[in-house]
Amino acid sequence: MRTQIAIVGAGPAGLLLGALLHRAGIDNVIIEQRSPEYVLGRIRAGVLEQVAVDLLDQVGVGRRMHAEGLPHDGFDLVFEGQRHRIDLQGLTGKRVMVYGQTEVTRDLMDHRADVGRTTFYEAQDVAVEGFDGDAPSVSFTKDGVRHSVECDFIAGCDGFHGVSRASVPAGAIRQHEKVYPFGWLGVLADVPPVHHELIYGHTERGFMLASMRSHTRSRYYVQCSLDDHVENWSDEAFWNELRARLPAEDAERLVTGPSIEKSIAPLRSFVAEPMRFGRLFLAGDAAHIVPPTGAKGLNLAASDVGLLARCFEEHYRGNAGGIEHYSALALARVWKAERFSWWFTSMMHRFPENGSFGHHMQLAELSYLVGSKAAQTAMAENYVGLPLN
Ligand code: APR
Ligand code: PHB
Repeated sequence: MRTQIAIVGAGPAGLLLGALLHRAGIDNVIIEQRSPEYVLGRIRAGVLEQVAVDLLDQVGVGRRMHAEGLPHDGFDLVFEGQRHRIDLQGLTGKRVMVYGQTEVTRDLMDHRADVGRTTFYEAQDVAVEGFDGDAPSVSFTKDGVRHSVECDFIAGCDGFHGVSRASVPAGAIRQHEKVYPFGWLGVLADVPPVHHELIYGHTERGFMLASMRSHTRSRYYVQCSLDDHVENWSDEAFWNELRARLPAEDAERLVTGPSIEKSIAPLRSFVAEPMRFGRLFLAGDAAHIVPPTGAKGLNLAASDVGLLARCFEEHYRGNAGGIEHYSALALARVWKAERFSWWFTSMMHRFPENGSFGHHMQLAELSYLVGSKAAQTAMAENYVGLPLN
């Protein structure tokens, strides 16, 4: 089989890239190692920047997002008994859209099925080959038969543990990483959200986040130890811990119920440079990871593939240099989102190893922030998302 772009991975990056290329008339095939049900079963972030909303609109999958998503004009920051609203709309003129990654993925999968582009799910032993020469290909085994997709370019959209980045010779890639000494314990439950906007809290017991997926489905997180296990947390224990970290008025209002999902995720910052190796391009989690505090993971995946699709379009329109700029353009945005996610994470979590000085630096940062419109504007600008370039 032959195509123009072979896309490895059917997460949000791969599916959105496929839709953008389809719209531009560029043939593409997606190769995904899991089943569609497995991909949809992963519960992840839920805040979309305007850039991501615009890209979903451009490919024509925005209808359900606009009908069911919740536009948010701000969020609350809570620390030391103070509560301060960051007025995203007032500070930047922009807002964010609360709409779960699962729903984004479902809309993109439905669109792909409608337009009839090829996707191979449950592909085993996926191998990306020949990208340092003129004849790249992606091969895989499906139902016991080995297949090969010959292509012009490979888009590695296969997440942090994917095969694409791992196939690049070690000497050609630089990797930058910071691992945080804690995780997030998250619970999804069909209960109304405790507040109509998100609450990010810095507390003596550690970080907390009250988020949501809809008016009837809540997503809550508490900072936990890296050696903790989900089995240690009954629903009741989780709700008690959350209540202890919420501001008193919210703790009183909190509606609890059985969890639908409960998991612990480690926090990491990671960047691989460059994002292009000959005819292989990396996008999304395959190239970088942010800690979830800034809600940038899905948004960076979307902006990467927005840039990549543009570069491929230029290439096929005859501008041979189109693809030369992808890595530098994408990385400029990635590093800024990395900085924001690291900064927000560092300010909000408990780092006992940083001692009382570190703790006071966090409180001074928060206190400066809530007292300075300039500082809040800088935060809001980053939270709603920097321009695509
Ligand atoms: N071959 C084919 N597919 C693979 C392989 C492989 N060897 N390895 C992984 N995959 C698939 C995974 O099963 C997954 O469906 O690649 C897909 C990668 O999807 P994501 O991990 O969701 O990554 P991405 O599309 O870049 O989206 C980034 O996901 O982790 C969140 O916070 C992050 O919201 C952000 C988003
Ligand atoms: C979520 O709803 O899962 C969520 C929201 C905001 C974040 C991280 C996660 O910063």
